[in-house]
Amino acid sequence: MWGTQGITARAGIHLLRTAPSAGALYPFETYLYVDKVEEVPKGIYHFNVADFALECIKAGDFNQALTAASLGQPVVRRAAVVIIWTAMMLRCMTKYRDRAMRYIPMDMGHVCQNVQLAATAMGFGSCPIGAFYDDDFNELLGVDGQEEAVLYLITVGKLK
Ligand SMILES: Cc1cc2nc3c(=O)[nH]c(=O)nc-3n(C[C@H](O)[C@H](O)[C@H](O)COP(=O)(O)O)c2cc1C
Repeated sequence: MWGTQGITARAGIHLLRTAPSAGALYPFETYLYVDKVEEVPKGIYHFNVADFALECIKAGDFNQALTAASLGQPVVRRAAVVIIWTAMMLRCMTKYRDRAMRYIPMDMGHVCQNVQLAATAMGFGSCPIGAFYDDDFNELLGVDGQEEAVLYLITVGKLK
């Protein structure tokens, strides 16, 4: 979670993070589905960047729902955790207008790569997931799919 959006410094109104972002706007929210982690109950959590804390938004087993919404991909079913990012469109578009359509995916790639580096350093496997049903994931998180829309996922877990 530190690799995704950990705060590294303050610059004026901006809280700088572990990944670069156009205009230091960090146009994402980070969610986490915890499935197989000792001492953390199964459920969907929101990552509170400022407090470096997980906030449970839906307790329970959502493995089937997540797997189905990811086209039945076994890597999702078997994952210990799935990080789910939403794009906050206006956070970037307000400043960059149409250019935000480039910056948001660029920013996202940096964040995802950080997770892969951190996972590798910790001896875990990870797999970025771009193939999923947008509407199903938006509904799972309770986001509107317009101003806030699921953009990308990554699974993390033990290597076989
Ligand atoms: C944008 C993007 C979307 C991806 N979506 C999926 C996916 O839905 N399912 C999957 O198994 N792998 C997915 N991958 C992982 C690629 O298949 C993988 O990175 C590629 O096969 C190269 O393997 P490596 O990363 O282990 O070197 C995705 C990767 C990227 C960058």
